[in-house]
Amino acid sequence: MNLQTRKNLRVVVPCMVFIGIMIGLVAYSPTLYRLFCAATGFGGTTQRAVVNSGVVSNRTIAVRFDSNVAPDLPWRFDPAQREVSVRLGEQKLVFFTAENVSDSAIVGHATFNVTPETTGIYFNKIQCFCFDDERLGAHEKVDMPVVFFVDPALASDSETSAVRTITLSYTFFRSVTPDKAQDLSRFLATSEPDATRGQQLFAERCVACHAIDANKAGPMLGGVVGRKAGSAPGYKSSLALLGADLTWSADSLDQWLADPGKFIAGARMPIRVLDASSRRDIIAYLELESRKSTNPTEYKPVAQGSLDRHRKEKE
Ligand code: HEC
Repeated sequence: MNLQTRKNLRVVVPCMVFIGIMIGLVAYSPTLYRLFCAATGFGGTTQRAVVNSGVVSNRTIAVRFDSNVAPDLPWRFDPAQREVSVRLGEQKLVFFTAENVSDSAIVGHATFNVTPETTGIYFNKIQCFCFDDERLGAHEKVDMPVVFFVDPALASDSETSAVRTITLSYTFFRSVTPDKAQDLSRFLATSEPDATRGQQLFAERCVACHAIDANKAGPMLGGVVGRKAGSAPGYKSSLALLGADLTWSADSLDQWLADPGKFIAGARMPIRVLDASSRRDIIAYLELESRKSTNPTEYKPVAQGSLDRHRKEKE
């Protein structure tokens, strides 16, 4: 290699690397932008949370809902309520209704933001249809749950402390990756319990405190269906749970998950699963795991539970 070629390379190689990095940045910019927004709340990007701290303040804030549909998507899409008032830290369940008015199944994709944009980092969604591809059958109509809370820290941030109203707005577009879509029918009360979805929800919302085969902050849940409340081996349950004198069934689990403290006063589980379709699928997963349980002393065969109930309703 002569001196001139070497000199040229010294210029060309860094240029190529620089161009490569630039191409990479452009190609991944939507992803990077989304990560950046999620981390900083920039542009009204909201936060994804699993549980809230349980601290509820007395201050209330109004949350308004707004919905839009891209012109080429033949869906109706509206919030079921225009506005709710929530206490800071309080979990709230609201619904958006989507209806496919065309004769074929269509996959939509929702984006959302909140205004004022500075409140984005305090707006936490526990459950939502966020950036997922969602399939809606021909003429199907579904109420989609959104569970959220507004972080009480909003009140002590000088940029947001004066805010009295937050607006959450969703826009549905036609999806460009329809083959990866989930069916929105999972939110219908009449659809079959889905243990696979239940397992995902369990991983998102329960594993912080529970496992199937070990005690953590909460008792192990393998074999829980058909087991007496508070009787997980090796776990010190609250007196409230022990005293409930109850054998877990699909029905009692449903009431427990909806509001543990209300179902058994004094029980120590600090979270709630507000929407019914998530409870149904988590319970289907717990039933499946209970049936799989091999320890005969802990295991009572489960009366097919919610699966059968739902089948009967359909017949
Ligand atoms: C932040 C921690 C935490 C999370 C998250 C949590 N739990 Fe719990 N759970 C507990 C605690 C603590 C108890 C024991 C309550 C008591 O003794 O009063 C409990 C008890 C239970 C029980 C009663 C078990 C028994 O042996 O009687 C069930 C069922 C249960 N949890 C289901 C769930 C499910 C399903 C989820 C996810 C949707 C979940 N929990 C999420 C902490 C949690």
